[in-house]
Amino acid sequence: MEDKINEIIEGNCVEVMKSFECNAIDLTVTSPPYDNLRTYKGFVFLFEEIAGELFRITNPGGMVVWVVADATIDGSETGSGFEQALYFKKVGFNLHDTMIFQKTNPIPQIYRKRYNNILEYMFVFSKGEVKTHNPIKVDCLHAELQLNGTTYKNYSKGEQKREKMANPVKNKKIKGNIWEYVVGKKAEDQEAKGHPAPFPCALARDHIKSWTNDGDIVLDPMCGSGTTCIAALQLNRRFIGIDMSREYCELARNRIKSYKSQPGLFKEEPGTYRTKNR
Ligand SMILES: C[S@@+](CC[C@H](N)C(=O)[O-])C[C@H]1O[C@@H](n2cnc3c(N)ncnc32)[C@H](O)[C@@H]1O
Repeated sequence: MEDKINEIIEGNCVEVMKSFECNAIDLTVTSPPYDNLRTYKGFVFLFEEIAGELFRITNPGGMVVWVVADATIDGSETGSGFEQALYFKKVGFNLHDTMIFQKTNPIPQIYRKRYNNILEYMFVFSKGEVKTHNPIKVDCLHAELQLNGTTYKNYSKGEQKREKMANPVKNKKIKGNIWEYVVGKKAEDQEAKGHPAPFPCALARDHIKSWTNDGDIVLDPMCGSGTTCIAALQLNRRFIGIDMSREYCELARNRIKSYKSQPGLFKEEPGTYRTKNR
């Protein structure tokens, strides 16, 4: 494994993952090709084999984050993201959380009697009990508010009053599972533009912070422009990136070089969801 650490490997991820030891990866953050929305220079997408290999190589207590959206074909969403999530359960993962990636600036759509699509799914799977969770926290809207007792309804006894003073509202709470990001506009995301479908660096960073610690190994088996790998490097984790396109592997390697020569370019900017109380 050592020779694969902090490398971008060109190849079909199923074949490359077969060369990994069992239980070697702490976290995978990845996004597969969405239905047939884009052609990635002749990709072969063997979903069931990918899911099986991910289970084998994930460390017990380790996680997989699968970022996906469905195409709409003949008037219906395909539902393939949900089918994939259920298949991950079949191979042995727990479906730990179904999270939403909300886009602050979604691409405007042609009106087809449906609401503008502003989300993708982030299915979070665990191999057994979750080993690491470093929860992101946000400000509480009513921080330090102290209520004098409240009235509530107990259905068998009618209206009742709590006489005791409630504890003051805490300053921070664990963030909800809808995460909002600006897409494609942040300085750190600009160099990914040679790829048709990168996700924001901040998204990868937030999952890596949440599910791993320093030195852990983070994999992206379909790494495209290398977003997950840069985020891992930035957070002192080790990474492995795989993509079957030579061009995208080159792009990922160049982005990593850029990060190493000007780390200040890749930073958290104000104005992300953290300003919102949810
Ligand atoms: C949605 S994109 C990932 C984008 C990436 N998250 C980023 O931020 O740039 C999916 C990627 O999967 C790659 N891919 C598709 N099938 C693959 C396979 N079997 N093995 C390795 N890579 C594959 C494509 O070349 C494409 O770059």
